[in-house]
Amino acid sequence: MLFDHELAWKDPAIYKEIYVNSIAAPEKFWEYHQNTLFPEGNYNASFNCLDRHAKITPHKNAIIWYGDEYCERREISYARLLEMTERIASELIRRGIRKGDSVTICMPMTPESIASMLACCRIGAIHNVVFSGFSANALNERIFRSASKIVLTVTAGSRGGKMIPSLHNVLAAIGDMDVDVLLVDHVDDFPMDDGALSVEHMKYDDPMFTLYTSGSTKEPKRIFHSCGGYQLYSAMTFKYVFDAKPEDIHFCTSDIGWITGHSYITYAPLFLGLTIVIFSGTPMHPDGGRYWQIIENERVSIFYSAPSAIRCLASLGEESVRNYDLSSLKVLGCVGEPMNEAAWKWLFTNVGKEKCPIMDTWWQTETGGIILAPLHNVKYQKPGFASMPFFGVAPGIENEELIIKNKNWPGLSSNFVRDDQIYHTGDKAMVDDDGDFKILGRIDDVVNICGHRLGTSEVESVVNALGEIEESAAIGVPHRIKGQALCIFATTTADLDQDQKESVAKEITTRIRQDIGAIAKPDKIVFIPELPKTRSGKIKRNILKIIGKKQNIDYDAADMQSIINISCIKEIEHAMTHAIKM
Ligand code: PRX
Repeated sequence: MLFDHELAWKDPAIYKEIYVNSIAAPEKFWEYHQNTLFPEGNYNASFNCLDRHAKITPHKNAIIWYGDEYCERREISYARLLEMTERIASELIRRGIRKGDSVTICMPMTPESIASMLACCRIGAIHNVVFSGFSANALNERIFRSASKIVLTVTAGSRGGKMIPSLHNVLAAIGDMDVDVLLVDHVDDFPMDDGALSVEHMKYDDPMFTLYTSGSTKEPKRIFHSCGGYQLYSAMTFKYVFDAKPEDIHFCTSDIGWITGHSYITYAPLFLGLTIVIFSGTPMHPDGGRYWQIIENERVSIFYSAPSAIRCLASLGEESVRNYDLSSLKVLGCVGEPMNEAAWKWLFTNVGKEKCPIMDTWWQTETGGIILAPLHNVKYQKPGFASMPFFGVAPGIENEELIIKNKNWPGLSSNFVRDDQIYHTGDKAMVDDDGDFKILGRIDDVVNICGHRLGTSEVESVVNALGEIEESAAIGVPHRIKGQALCIFATTTADLDQDQKESVAKEITTRIRQDIGAIAKPDKIVFIPELPKTRSGKIKRNILKIIGKKQNIDYDAADMQSIINISCIKEIEHAMTHAIKM
């Protein structure tokens, strides 16, 4: 049976045969891979990612870390990462943390943050990583709702030349909650447990971690992933989509605060014993050569990034890449938002030098790993297409929405029952005559700013809480670099003059930063007399989206008919020309 062929992505016939098998006999397919990837039958991620490799290749680098400045670099071998993990795990045990307990991690991208995740796994605690750029209020909500007993953090970090006061934020978030704080700046301060600490035995369905992600509700959703299915799916997708081998040097520019940082910085690459390069800075600090210099220095072979980062770097021109030796690259990848054709071509030509396939991978926090990627024929890739399903996954389109017609693949979050119902993705997509999928953005009220998912109702509830605001609608508008930006339409409780409007707009931005984080900062705020509504009182967001784009105002007649206060449209169009830029 053809299940395990490393040429899958180089030969469409092989891809097809494996795919057909995986759909026809899913149980056999996944069981085969489960047995291959977990020969010891051990579902503890810390054991799989560390002990197995530390035994055979203790001196091999697990992590190469780059800090905010060019001179900041550290190497962490598998043996050292295991030791760091054991020390943190022992300290967690000493502080009373046990299997099943929830632990929040809020740290910048360092080897310690990865060791902290693995330390939780080691003792069976459920980690809940919160992006270190979130505000104290957002962190507070996530600590409280996950019932975490302890928060792991460091004193401070630095990103893009700015200091991140991690401990200060964590203490502000905790307030008077009864939650312990563990500083992991110096792991060697934690005594080793003289080998007394054992690796917790984990079953296939035991919970491994949670992550909060935005949806259409006011509050972010808590997504659970369990040990066996998650590790199996993330490791397999990594192996096949990126043709990953132990000798590869893998550089993923995401952050551990997101699912990409869980699956393709931490768990899949370490599971397969690669060396990962992690970077705690930003692509533009101190200049736009950071990624390329790191790739050259470390001979990176797999580079996985986000379209907004690529668009930003492409804006610096081809000469910003030309002088770096990028010949070590074999495959490129992008994730998080639609990849436009111009950015795709720039990456393909200037970074991959027309020899590296680009894996435009579509997936979500809920799916645990990659669902769509150009696996079937890398020679004839289509810019802007995430293309084909991974093995065992059956996508389709229903009312323009991308759906998955089966739920029996192991990566799917345990929030969903593995029944034969359809999984709704919330994304709009199309499929061409070759059967290739193209993702067109969200169909629900979620905006995607630089690949970060943000629920518009989360933003609106912050805006509406201001005394001066009557009601508001936050919508995503196209943005050249960020993909989408936030535009807020608001009505006020009293008439305001221009100065007052500007000061309320500032206050809105400050509150959003405080309650959510800098990610959610709006680009534009528009004060309007009325929001367009239907007879039943629903805000006509699609009309606002058209006005927000400011070009090609072309309304759908049926849409217009459903508005009861149609006269406000002209006023909103006019107000848009006086939008306050933030
Ligand atoms: O809208 C899709 C977009 O990101 C959403 C998932 O966000 P999140 O759960 O934060 O996970 C991001 C990293 C996996 C999707 O619903 N998205 C993700 N990848 C792509 C994408 N949109 C277009 N093309 C992609 N390759």
